Amino acid sequence: MIAKTQEDIAALRESGRILSAVVAQLAAMVAPGVTTAKLDLKAEELIRAAGAVPAFLNYKPSGARYPYPAALCISVNDEVVHGIPKEESVLKEGDIVSLDLGLSYKGYFTDHCKTVFVGKGDAQGQKLLDGTREALSAAIAAATVGGHVGDIGAAVAAVAKRYGLSVVEELGGHALGKSVHERPFIANYGNPGEGEKLSEGLVLALEPILAEGKGRIDLADDEWTYVTRDHSRAAHFEQTIILTKKGPEIVTPFL
Ligand code: MF3
Ligand code: CO
Repeated sequence: MIAKTQEDIAALRESGRILSAVVAQLAAMVAPGVTTAKLDLKAEELIRAAGAVPAFLNYKPSGARYPYPAALCISVNDEVVHGIPKEESVLKEGDIVSLDLGLSYKGYFTDHCKTVFVGKGDAQGQKLLDGTREALSAAIAAATVGGHVGDIGAAVAAVAKRYGLSVVEELGGHALGKSVHERPFIANYGNPGEGEKLSEGLVLALEPILAEGKGRIDLADDEWTYVTRDHSRAAHFEQTIILTKKGPEIVTPFL
């Protein structure tokens, strides 16, 4: 959507703040022995307690065989995105886990993800997390009114290259606001000055998804979870922003 009024902007800020606080609380619960189902239950509970609605639960994009069955997408190690929470999926020390969550509040959708270690991580994994986080801040810095979609992708790809990480090219960011996924798609690679123009008020979810290995992915048998083909680990950071003349405003503040 294009946020046009002060009401739009105020509601997006509220929506994003609620979401970001929930993700922060989930991240604080991540520990060895915790099941991914428990984190999902908590996510839904916190969202509803805030008067918001989970955006992913029962979401069915065209092409999906069945609706997404949970509030939270939780992807562990070689799982890239859209991992489904499960009672039998128990987090263990050293795992890399992404917590990807969306909600709507007063009809305004925001989308947010962070990736954390379970307990203590390894040096290579730390590089994956640092590089992906830095790619997100580069993406946000590149999202300026009057710029182009390709500026964002180019910024992500440059950081990935510097860290020796690869971009998962099939996945990327998107506009949102009145629904969870709106056009345009924001690839995590591209050329500066190319692609659609970025206009004032545009609401975007920017989300670099990077892998330690080659970045090729397969869809698992559950038809939701994407897994790296070489089983290398992946990371994902995502924030919702509003493009303003003064620069990008981040509405999901707690990364
Ligand atoms: N967070 C994902 C994204 O950024 C959306 C997950 S949608 C669901 O695009 F289908 F998995 F629910
Ligand atoms: Co998103």
